[in-house]
Amino acid sequence: MKKFTKTLTCVIAASAFATVAVADEDAKLIINDELKIETNVAASADSPLDELFSGWVFRSNETQLMQMDDFDNPSFIFVEQAEEQFAKVDGTEGKACATCHEDVASFKGLRTVLPRHNASTGKLDTMATLINDCRTDRMGAEPWKFSKGKMTSMKALISLQSRGMPMNVAVDGGAAEAFEKGKELYYTRVGQLDMSCANCHEDNYGNMIRADHLSQGQTNGFPTYRLKNAKLNSIQGRFKGCMKNIRATPYKEGSDEFTALELYVASRGNGLIVESPSVRN
Ligand code: HEC
Ligand code: HEC
Repeated sequence: MKKFTKTLTCVIAASAFATVAVADEDAKLIINDELKIETNVAASADSPLDELFSGWVFRSNETQLMQMDDFDNPSFIFVEQAEEQFAKVDGTEGKACATCHEDVASFKGLRTVLPRHNASTGKLDTMATLINDCRTDRMGAEPWKFSKGKMTSMKALISLQSRGMPMNVAVDGGAAEAFEKGKELYYTRVGQLDMSCANCHEDNYGNMIRADHLSQGQTNGFPTYRLKNAKLNSIQGRFKGCMKNIRATPYKEGSDEFTALELYVASRGNGLIVESPSVRN
């Protein structure tokens, strides 16, 4: 970790991250030889970014290839586990998800609009809170822990139903307050390295940081199977890792802070295509 700190400090002192072109700009993401996913789309007029890139663009050829075929994408082991779980009776009410949600395909489109403001609770719903609400209130079952295997696998199965659709979270109306809070968090410098999300993912995407090729830190691919920890990773789990890397104390998963940040980051990617579940290093 000392080494990381040192590298970053000199890098910032020189006020330049190593500059390289966006990796293989011509690479095309086509999944299972049939689903073409646009990985570079125009940003909206009010976006702080000129154009939007999926994190897939910045990965090595090998990592990119793993996501191009569901047989090679290790996420699908977890998707299969979630399919079994979906049909499994759990809790005091003797119900399975499938008792009420006959076909998981009925969740098509849901991933593109989350997080979403809930007028009756006044809070943001995330996929995790929606799943747990069903478990506790409708099944009489224990809630699943955020970012643990059963939760991220179920999120992968539900998100997969929206693969190929553009992200489209709402940030107006009841969501406006959380959007502003998330934006503030995104631009606030924190940690011993005194850095903000924007310092890396807005000012330096396309550049190298240590051996890693910096992306825009978009969330359209989550949950993500990471080669580094060989499991599915949640959006807020990833935020946590980034905060730890700059020696900041991360917020808790499911906290208002991280959920607001999740909404804000998702809005920066409005228009990017859902790739879930993706593969990253
Ligand atoms: C007793 C019936 C019941 C069971 C069992 C149940 N749900 Fe639900 N679920 C509902 C109802 C009712 C809603 C709210 C109406 C809707 O959106 O379909 C809902 C909503 C949801 C939503 C949000 C959908 C949206 O469009 O906003 C998700 C995601 C979800 N359920 C997932 C699950 C999962 C995963 C399980 C199993 C762990 C499960 N549910 C078990 C009845 C159930
Ligand atoms: C010191 C630089 C740095 C900072 C600061 C930083 N990150 Fe990251 N982040 C990385 C690196 C390196 C990766 C892995 C390569 C990549 O996808 O950019 C990453 C990956 C991500 C990803 C995954 C992207 C994908 O396509 O899978 C997200 C999302 C993300 N960061 C969000 C954030 C947020 C939100 C913050 C602020 C709380 C933040 N990051 C702060 C360096 C940083």
